[in-house]
Amino acid sequence: MKIEIDTGRIVAEIEELAAISDAEAPAVTRVVFTSTDVKARAWLEGRCAEVGLIVRQDPVGNIFARWSGTDPSLPAVGTGSHIDAIPNAGKYDGVVGVLGGLEAIRSLQRSGLRPRHSLELLMFTAEEPTRFGIGCLGSRMLSGSLAPPAAQELRDGDGASLDEARERAGIVGDLGAVELPLGYYKAFVELHIEQGALLELQGIPLGVVTNIAAPASLRISIEGEGGHAGAVLMEGRRDALCAAAELILAIEKAAQDSPAADTVATVGMCDVFPGAVNSIPSRVRLTADIRDTSLERRDQIIRIIGSAAKLIAETRHVSIQCELLNADAPATCATSVVEALSQSCRKHNFGFLPMVSRAYHDTLFMSRIVPAGMLFIPCRNGYSHRPDEYASPEDIGRGALVLAETLAVLA
Ligand code: HGY
Ligand code: MN
Ligand code: MN
Repeated sequence: MKIEIDTGRIVAEIEELAAISDAEAPAVTRVVFTSTDVKARAWLEGRCAEVGLIVRQDPVGNIFARWSGTDPSLPAVGTGSHIDAIPNAGKYDGVVGVLGGLEAIRSLQRSGLRPRHSLELLMFTAEEPTRFGIGCLGSRMLSGSLAPPAAQELRDGDGASLDEARERAGIVGDLGAVELPLGYYKAFVELHIEQGALLELQGIPLGVVTNIAAPASLRISIEGEGGHAGAVLMEGRRDALCAAAELILAIEKAAQDSPAADTVATVGMCDVFPGAVNSIPSRVRLTADIRDTSLERRDQIIRIIGSAAKLIAETRHVSIQCELLNADAPATCATSVVEALSQSCRKHNFGFLPMVSRAYHDTLFMSRIVPAGMLFIPCRNGYSHRPDEYASPEDIGRGALVLAETLAVLA
């Protein structure tokens, strides 16, 4: 059985999809349930249907495109990723796993393979936290890690609920139907760009992920006292932004002081109210993103942030509320999938690096319901979540080939 990847077609489709965006090229913005996202979903469903895959969408917008196996009673083998993109992102994050997965399936169809297990491509809804504040919304619900009532509590920046947003996008149905029955999949593999520079620095063309770091995010609200920037003297001020600045540095210090390099913490959002040059900030809202491969160390950072917030609130006479938005366990990839991926790399003499994924992915949640693994390809300078994100056709083609072979072995 000869598997041949049409790399040119993947690259062309990545360009086509990148054009369905709310940002000026080369940036890509595609936020879940926006009209742009709906257009991109329709485009993807068209690509899947044209090769005879059976396409369905679940009530939260996860898309499934199935190539039926010879024995439909067997659990399917899944692959896929996401196509939503944070504001001002690149065109490869997630997309390489969806379009590389689609081409992997097409290449197996062309090879004459008749898989016993069905092969199913997934496009997960809202892997990015942009709109609803938590990432992996679709795979959380598929895996039963987020129950419908909790999902229905989610609100976007304009106060719209998940139900309102999905219905406006034409996605309806009872969210209770999203969770997959146990045993639905035999295995799941996700192809993704590394979003770090390790593979490139070490000159290794592929990464076989062994485990995925544990992500957590905090929403921090700081209330001080506003006033006229000129008339209010410094003595006795309760400036919310100065308190926020102190807390942001404390968060950075907590991660830097950790004994492990795997501990990372980032404050990526800071909203200042009223946000006028001559008005003392009365209210600030921060989001903090904390990750580590070790759950204990990650939770220790969260505790340190809580105590720092308490101390700053006392010394600056402001109020500081920390709300935990998500605090997920890390994932260990299944030996069966890691081995199948490694085997395929060895067969082609492709160098590969067993490695940790510091970014989270839908595999973090899929690994809770099915033996799962990930395959990384390099991205230039490790850049991701920025318009100059780039993966070469050669790396994309190599990743799709190993993915296709791994799917063939698993199915
Ligand atoms: O933030 C992440 O790790 C993923 O790229 N959403
Ligand atoms: Mn991302
Ligand atoms: Mn991603």
